[in-house]
Amino acid sequence: MDMSELNARIEACRACGLCRNRTRAVPGEGCLEHPLVLCIGEGPGEQEDLTGRPFVGPAGQLLDRMLASVGLSREQVFIANVVKCRPPGNRAPEPDEVRACLPFLREQTRLLRPRILFCLGATAGRAIIDPAFRVTRQRGLWVERKGFYLMGTYHPSALLRDRSGQYKREAYEDLKALRRKIDELSASTQGGG
Ligand code: URA
Repeated sequence: MDMSELNARIEACRACGLCRNRTRAVPGEGCLEHPLVLCIGEGPGEQEDLTGRPFVGPAGQLLDRMLASVGLSREQVFIANVVKCRPPGNRAPEPDEVRACLPFLREQTRLLRPRILFCLGATAGRAIIDPAFRVTRQRGLWVERKGFYLMGTYHPSALLRDRSGQYKREAYEDLKALRRKIDELSASTQGGG
């Protein structure tokens, strides 16, 4: 299966109740040629549901600025979500919805072959890193598994609500760690392994 076939399956999916309220499914977008980084959010919000594109609302604009702060653009990474259809009222997806949708993220990962899975928020951290993932405790820590480097940080929506600025400062530390890992992996690839 290639990415366009996968996208067509996602758009036609009726594996859970989220399909009933969707305007559009949101498969994901970005670099299709082995991006080093796959950014994983929770699920589409209102703007994403209307456009079929990930992270285009307020959280997405912040994500763009976060990536830019360490010299990355949307075009250099791939951006996807744990669930591909909008949960009503932007609630967190239920475990059965996550279970129904995860095979799509797995297939995206198989096709894209990223080295880093950068998890935005607790839903992605729990789905990808650890079922008991807590952002405040486990953010910024690399986990190496099956050839992938996994890290979780705050979801941009949480940063939009952060009054004290502490989460933003910590998220910036995580982004700098992401940058260092990218540089390390790029250097070892250029050096022939
Ligand atoms: N929040 C997410 O988790 N994903 C999006 O695509 C948009 C907002």
